[in-house]
Amino acid sequence: MDKKELINNGKVKSVYTTDDEDAVIIEFRDDMTAGDGARKEVMNKKGSYNALISTKLFKVLEENGIKTQFIDLPETNVMVAKKLDMIPIEVIVRNIATGSLIRKYPIADGTKLNPPIVQMDFKADEFHDPMLNDSIIKALGLATQEEIDELTQKALKINEILSKFLLEAGIILVDFKVEFGKDKNGEIILGDEISPDGCRLWDSETLDMLDKELFRKGKDNEVMDAYVEVYNRIIPDDEKI
Ligand code: C5P
Repeated sequence: MDKKELINNGKVKSVYTTDDEDAVIIEFRDDMTAGDGARKEVMNKKGSYNALISTKLFKVLEENGIKTQFIDLPETNVMVAKKLDMIPIEVIVRNIATGSLIRKYPIADGTKLNPPIVQMDFKADEFHDPMLNDSIIKALGLATQEEIDELTQKALKINEILSKFLLEAGIILVDFKVEFGKDKNGEIILGDEISPDGCRLWDSETLDMLDKELFRKGKDNEVMDAYVEVYNRIIPDDEKI
């Protein structure tokens, strides 16, 4: 399947149309950004590691009844995916308080959150991704109440499945962001990616960070080792490329 027209050039991924009008090609680039794109570096093979990790996690989710846009991974950094009309909402699930939550609210770093927090942010760099609530989502016409409930339930189910899967690999899923879109039938499907770019992942023994937080903290020389570690832990040897 060949790339045709570039339809979205994101901060770390490029999306192209293909000969099949129901499919897109998502190219995972080696760029790494932080602070709404204010800092940008190129990390060797990062696109491939993210695509491979995301593919594995999408397959695990599919096996557990969550529909994803994944179709195929013809090259290590190139995914063929179902074409979706993306909903501009970042659905964030938090199992442990850290990051922006502890900067904005009086809650201690590391506090376990049970039940988990589900938060929705508006995906709009120019507004710095402000947090939404149900009334704002409906006023902006981003989703109906029924769809908000569906996004919440799907995000919680994804959290349950991936927390268990990752813990078996010695990784705590601290928090993560997912994005959804609608297919041509209007069904809400998990899209985008699930990778160390959009998750906080901690080693379950040492609590060492295994995700993009290292880059956000300026530890650029450690970040790729962390991504490779996640890949090595979650991909069985006979599936490794
Ligand atoms: O920064 P914050 O604590 O709100 O991030 C929560 C989770 O959502 C983290 O796992 C982070 O990687 C992810 N996130 C993201 N993209 C954003 C904002 C947050 O992937 N624009």
